[in-house]
Parts: sequence; structure tokens; C-alpha cells
Amino acid sequence: MRNGVDWITKSNCSSNQHKNKRGLICSKLSGLRILLETTINDSLMASLTRVLLPISSSTSSSSQFTSSACTISLRLNPISPTTTTSTRRRFSVFAMAESNRSTVLVTGAGGRTGQIVYKKLKERSGEYIARGLVRTEESKEKIGGADDIFIGDITNVESVIPAIQGIDALVILTSAVPKMKPGFDPSKGGRPEFYFEDGSYPEQVDWEGQKNQIDAAKAAGVKQIVLVGSMGGTNINHPLNSLGNGNILVWKRKAEQYLADSGIPYTIIRAGGLQDKEGGVRELLIGKDDELLQTETKTIARADVAEVCIQALQIEEAKCKALDLASKPEGTGTPTTDFKTLFSQVTTRF
Ligand SMILES: NC(=O)c1ccc[n+]([C@@H]2O[C@H](COP(=O)([O-])OP(=O)(O)OC[C@H]3O[C@@H](n4cnc5c(N)ncnc54)[C@H](OP(=O)(O)O)[C@@H]3O)[C@@H](O)[C@H]2O)c1
Repeated sequence: MRNGVDWITKSNCSSNQHKNKRGLICSKLSGLRILLETTINDSLMASLTRVLLPISSSTSSSSQFTSSACTISLRLNPISPTTTTSTRRRFSVFAMAESNRSTVLVTGAGGRTGQIVYKKLKERSGEYIARGLVRTEESKEKIGGADDIFIGDITNVESVIPAIQGIDALVILTSAVPKMKPGFDPSKGGRPEFYFEDGSYPEQVDWEGQKNQIDAAKAAGVKQIVLVGSMGGTNINHPLNSLGNGNILVWKRKAEQYLADSGIPYTIIRAGGLQDKEGGVRELLIGKDDELLQTETKTIARADVAEVCIQALQIEEAKCKALDLASKPEGTGTPTTDFKTLFSQVTTRF
């Protein structure tokens, strides 16, 4: 703990809200609970209160001070009518160290890649406090229904603000999703037709929705944004743009540019064709300007994209960069484990 207070005992605690034996409710708990209990005289009490609770009244019997580093709850036993000011009194200080954990919100957390990122963050609870944003109660239940899953629609900025308040980093995995028009019969050959639902066109989701998130994050002082986009954006005639007349890659690219210009440290990950395969078993490939699309290696497992998102949160070399991402086929090359080296290969800021 700060302030040189080193006479403390530590114990692990997993709950977000902990009510200790003395009835103090300590919130913002994050894995490390520090319990301090001793007896002191009034003069030391006054000094401690000044140091630990600079914004609280030293005369109050119970106070709480929350900093970005920790939450400290303090209770001073009431002075009994028979005690004098020099009498030693018992007090308890509960300091909830936030340690260096980072609160990360994943939007599109009900999506196929978003839910992997959310799950990975939850699994790494020593480093991250995970939050998810989904569009519906149904999506929330699908990914576990925890209290850290917020419901909001990114096209309505007001609805995403609560999820963004207080986070350190944002991982954007929302995307417009084209729907296949009914009546397509593969046995008759031809190609299916696609459409976007009203209110869910790429202009609304991939441009306005991403912009809303970036604006809200900036207003909330978010320190970092990772945005997953798609390869193909350098080619206005890319077939994905004609899907449902949505120009999806055009709007995605516009949002990427907006992020790069936002002043918030960012990583833009332009993924190749996404596959629902096991992660961590392939050598990842970094590219730029869609050059990988001219090769045979232009796909990537969603699980690998998710891992790269998380690695980008913690590796300095990933910041303020944009990269194309694909992988070698499984069994060729060496599975990537050194993400610092991977990000160091990236030379492009957009
Ligand atoms: N598919 C590919 O081969 C491919 C290739 C390269 C890059 N990418 C990109 O990679 C990213 C991840 O792809 P994915 O296939 O894993 O994603 P996905 O499963 O399609 O998930 C997209 C998520 O965005 C959410 N969403 C859409 N509109 C929203 C709104 N208005 N408010 C809140 N949430 C909204 C959806 O919520 P609901 O669940 O409620 O619909 C969905 O969970 C996307 O940006 C995608 O474009 C995809």
C-alpha cells in the first residue's frame, strides 16, 4: 500500500461486495483485500486519518476514501463517555487495493469474437476487471448474465455511457451483421442475397456506432481503445461493400480513421476471414494495406483475434498502430507466443 503503511495483513477475496465482520461494506474489491487492525492513540489516529482519508472528517466514526489505486474504509470505535482523549481506541482500516488491474469493456460481447475476449478477460481476473456490452437481455444471458454485462445500443450514445464510465480500456467488437434474404435454395445454385435491418446498416453501426463509442470513451478519459476491423478496406470495389448495399468496409474504414485521429492511444486490428477454430496453434501474420489478401494466408481464428486484442492492451509496441492480421495454416510455422515481437513488426499507424 502507499503512504509507507506496511503493517498490514493480506488475504484474498473474490467478492465484489464484501461485508466484513464489523459491518463495514467495502466495495470496489478486486482480488486483494488488505486488513489492518491495531490500537493507536489519538495523535496517531489523527495522522493516519490525515494521510489515509484526506477528504474525510477525522471525527466521523466511519469513512471511506476511494482513489484509482484502492478503496479504504475506516471505522473508529465510538468514544465511550468514560474514556479520555488519551485512551487507546481500536480502529479498523480496510484497504481494497485495486492493484494494477485494468477495467476493460468489450462491446459486441455477445458476438462470436467479442464473447471470446470477454471470457479471456474474466479468466485473467488478476490483470483485468471485465465488462461487456450487449444489445439484448438474450445476449446477456447467452454469455453468462453477470452483473458486469451492460445492455445498450451503440447507435444510441446515451445507452452506452454507463458501461463506459470508469473503464481504462475499450475493445470494440461491434459490427453490422448482414442477414440472408429468405428463399435462397443452395441446391438451385446462384448466390444468396443479403440485407441489413432498418437501423442496423453499416453507416449506423460501423460508423455512427463506433464513433459514439470513441466519443463517449474520450469524454470518460478512457486510456486505450482496441478496434477490430476488417481487411479489404483499401479496395472500394471489394465484394463485401456490395453486400446489402451497405458499403460496410467504407464505413469501417471511416471509423478507424476517426479513432486514429482521436488522440486516444489505439490499436486497429484488421482481421482476415474469421474462422471458429482453436486459437494459439498457428503462427500469426502481420500485414499492411491489404497485402495479405494477395496471398494464400488470409484467414484467422476468432480465438486468435481475441488473444491479439488482449495482448494489445498490455504491450506498448501495439499502441497507435494499425495492422492486418492473418495466420499460417495449422501445422506450418511456429505458433505465436511472443506478442511483443509480433507488434514490433507493425510499422503503420493507419
Ligand atoms: N466475418 C468475417 O469473416 C470477418 C472478417 C474480417 C473482420 N471481421 C470483423 O471482425 C469483427 C468481429 O466479427 P464477428 O463475426 O466475431 O462478430 P459478430 O459475431 O458478427 O458480432 C457483432 C456484434 O455486434 C453487435 N452489434 C451489432 N449492432 C449493434 C448495436 N447497434 N449495438 C450494440 N451491439 C451491436 C451484435 O450484437 P447482437 O448479438 O445483438 O446482434 C454482435 O454481437 C467485426 O467487426 C467483423 O466485421 C469479420
